[in-house]
Amino acid sequence: MPAALVTGAGRGIGLATAKAFLQEGWKVLALDKQFGSEIAGERVDYDLTNLAGIPGLIDKLGELDTLVNNAGVLYCDPYDAIPEAHIEEIVTVNLRAPVALIEAIAPQMRKRKSGRIVNVGSVAAFTGHPDLWYGATKAALLNVTKSYASHLGRDRILVNAVAPGPTLTAMYDQLPQSRKDGVMRSVHAGRACAPEEVARVVLWLGTASPDYMSGATVDVNSGSYPR
Ligand SMILES: NC(=O)c1ccc[n+]([C@@H]2O[C@H](COP(=O)([O-])OP(=O)(O)OC[C@H]3O[C@@H](n4cnc5c(N)ncnc54)[C@H](O)[C@@H]3O)[C@@H](O)[C@H]2O)c1
Repeated sequence: MPAALVTGAGRGIGLATAKAFLQEGWKVLALDKQFGSEIAGERVDYDLTNLAGIPGLIDKLGELDTLVNNAGVLYCDPYDAIPEAHIEEIVTVNLRAPVALIEAIAPQMRKRKSGRIVNVGSVAAFTGHPDLWYGATKAALLNVTKSYASHLGRDRILVNAVAPGPTLTAMYDQLPQSRKDGVMRSVHAGRACAPEEVARVVLWLGTASPDYMSGATVDVNSGSYPR
């Protein structure tokens, strides 16, 4: 049975993604630092700010066919008064941890000459963002996607990304209403995305998208590009 590691699987897009892989008959390792009552797959309690522990964690988890780097954090701080601790956490969870996970998993995928990695970016990568470091880390993650597509491509490892628009999760709920109103004006569907809609694209990239596709970002944003 193929196995996927999904980070941030305790809720939101990660939980929906874990369920989507399970429905396809995959073994799912659901990693989060906190879980609610619903857990899809085998629970892996881990705080991704512990970068040093990531290689040991991956050794313990065994063979992984797909890695979904989904965990992320966002704070609604004013762009010119972001606390150092928030910057540190955003950069670590949104950017450094995905890179550390890829580095830790790449050797086993290289050995097998197969593997898929899906990074969860954001439309914020293209538009800029009121939370400056959130937007910056998401843009960097899309660049990281292209870099690893190139580094790992000869070993037949596919590295792609999704860039969701506003999606109905706890992260979206924390936005002030004025920002939600602005976002709603830009999406053509006139509604926020369901986490399951993003999960379907992650599942496709993590299981079935063509081998010729790597380094790509699939936008799931109802056409809400900067004008
Ligand atoms: N919701 C949106 O509108 C939206 C839009 C674009 C991109 N995204 C991205 O989608 C991804 C999932 O976001 P979501 O909307 O489901 O958010 P969410 O806040 O509902 O879920 C994020 C999950 O990540 C986990 N997490 C955070 N820090 C962690 C850490 N240090 N260690 C382990 N787990 C940690 C949280 O516990 C949580 O379960 C994120 O990368 C986010 O940036 C979300």
